Amino acid sequence: MIITIDGPIATGKSTIAKKLANEIGYIYFDTGAMYRSLTYALMKQKIDLDNQDAIKEFLNHFDLNIKIKPGLRRYFVNGEDTTDFIRAPDVTANVSKVSALPFVREKLVHLQRELAKGVNSVFEGRDMGTIVFPDADFKIFLTGRPEVRAKRRYDELLQKFPEQMKGVTLEQCLSDINARDEYDMKREASPLIKADDAYEVDTSDISPDEVVFKILEIRDSRKTRLRHENSKK
Ligand code: DC
Repeated sequence: MIITIDGPIATGKSTIAKKLANEIGYIYFDTGAMYRSLTYALMKQKIDLDNQDAIKEFLNHFDLNIKIKPGLRRYFVNGEDTTDFIRAPDVTANVSKVSALPFVREKLVHLQRELAKGVNSVFEGRDMGTIVFPDADFKIFLTGRPEVRAKRRYDELLQKFPEQMKGVTLEQCLSDINARDEYDMKREASPLIKADDAYEVDTSDISPDEVVFKILEIRDSRKTRLRHENSKK
């Protein structure tokens, strides 16, 4: 069974996906973290992100390993633990560019489908319900007002990276997330878009627990409806 959660930046995707997975005993996968790990590894190797041949060459021996323990998740690239670095502002500034490359997506989409084999999972990202798992059992698309999302992201970054956030304003954060969302929505390869059969949930004014509750409610009423429709056939 696969549940997908897509949506723009700071709609609470990771928090919600994690909580939902915990609640129903599924494994949760954060696919943004995979694109971030690759971006970090490329930057660490000082690979020019405009040099597609060099990125392709790196991908030939790119080995991404996710170590999952209860409450703990670490991302290793070619043996190096990248987890503590992938959310830093410099990686964030470059990840949209790397994740827009079709050959990068091909590689990571393949890996995501492999990870889904034989497990009940919640996959969170941008193209989970549209491209990676178009036949997923249940799809959610999270939304939120840009000002609310910018404040969330600003507070989170301030807490995690106080040094790098010195002088950065909330307004800058808002224009940054708007620019990144627009880039993700307008790119040619797998743009961020709501799948036709995804359920939309606005997270602006409700807590993560309430969002999860709402998702479970939608899932249950959908199950009841499908059962009812099947019994009429
Ligand atoms: O969710 P996030 O902010 O950690 O995602 C980081 C970047 O990766 C973001 O710019 C969009 C991109 N991404 C993507 O293109 N496809 C995914 N499935 C997940 C993330």
